[in-house]
Amino acid sequence: EKGGFEHFMLKEIYEQPRAILDTYRGRLLAKQGIIKMAGVDENLEKLLNANRIIIVACGTSWHAGLVAEYIFEDLARIPVEVEYASEFRYRNPVITDKDVLIAISQSGETADTLAAIKLAKEKGAFVFGVCNVVGSSIARETDAGAYTHAGPEIGVASTKAFTTQITVLTLIALKLAKEKGVFTTTRFHEYLTELEQIPAKVEKALESNALVEIIAEVYKDSTNCLYLGRGYNFPVALEGALKLKEISYIHAEGYPAAEMKHGPIALIDEHMPVVVIATNKGHYEKVVSNIQEIKSRKGKIIAVVTQGDQQVKELADHVIEIPETLESLTPLLTTIPLQLLSYHIAVMRGCNVDQPRNLAKSVTVE
Ligand code: M6R
Repeated sequence: EKGGFEHFMLKEIYEQPRAILDTYRGRLLAKQGIIKMAGVDENLEKLLNANRIIIVACGTSWHAGLVAEYIFEDLARIPVEVEYASEFRYRNPVITDKDVLIAISQSGETADTLAAIKLAKEKGAFVFGVCNVVGSSIARETDAGAYTHAGPEIGVASTKAFTTQITVLTLIALKLAKEKGVFTTTRFHEYLTELEQIPAKVEKALESNALVEIIAEVYKDSTNCLYLGRGYNFPVALEGALKLKEISYIHAEGYPAAEMKHGPIALIDEHMPVVVIATNKGHYEKVVSNIQEIKSRKGKIIAVVTQGDQQVKELADHVIEIPETLESLTPLLTTIPLQLLSYHIAVMRGCNVDQPRNLAKSVTVE
């Protein structure tokens, strides 16, 4: 059942090239230059005329929502707010029938997300679901939606659900960008062809596994870990930290890299590993200066960089390379080594990777 892998989590990490392909199969028609998604096609007007999109989710799905915020605003120029479902539902939010709510949930059973959907529906908003489990409560409660088609995710730590959620949300954003006319045909094409390369590039990113295992050995006894990223990769930093916390029980925090100097920098000493996402697009130079700040305080730097990187290589203690891609698609690749890092550290610490203490795969109570 684990397909030769020691744990479901590792199996699911390795399934990502396939899962992402399954997510866009039949939807992304690069040669014809179209994206076909029934749930979007049938509700195009509602989506295009939305005053704003409110994304609600919990945990890893909330992180996918944060990535989507960057994608929707940057590509489709639609204002987005991302909310923890649990906060949204209880704070008497301002919602109108001009709003579109997107609920993201792997299981489709998360109690807070379901309650947020019901609230938004009562206020007249159009509710769109991004779920993995077919026929789940959230899939049934939403007005329309798009499944991720990631296949069953058994490991409590979400992996392939995350990357396929981002894939679906990217497809939606691209489609809306095209329909709104904010994307030229050439630019649209460039994205479609690059998206088609993603499964092969994820495969490449997975080749970092042996190196990541060596790095895990060095830091497995750490008590804290900091994750930094900017822009599209800020949510990836949050997700990297969550993965480490939940399966290895090491305290970890994710931060936007520039926020470091507003507090967390005080934590840095020679015992603090800092995982930095430093891909070559999007504020690269700024991240490099953050890395210098960490180095001068003797922090240990584990950097995720673009293949062929020179500058960070000279500063970091460890560099993990991922293939080059469009900036907005980098989260699909930068996430991979972070998943592997938390996996190996948890295994080395003797933790129950697939069923971490105190956690359940779906949180059906608030
Ligand atoms: O099924 P959902 O996507 O709604 O679940 C949301 C969270 O409970 C879930 O992502 C949780 O944070 C995972 N354990 C993260 O790995």
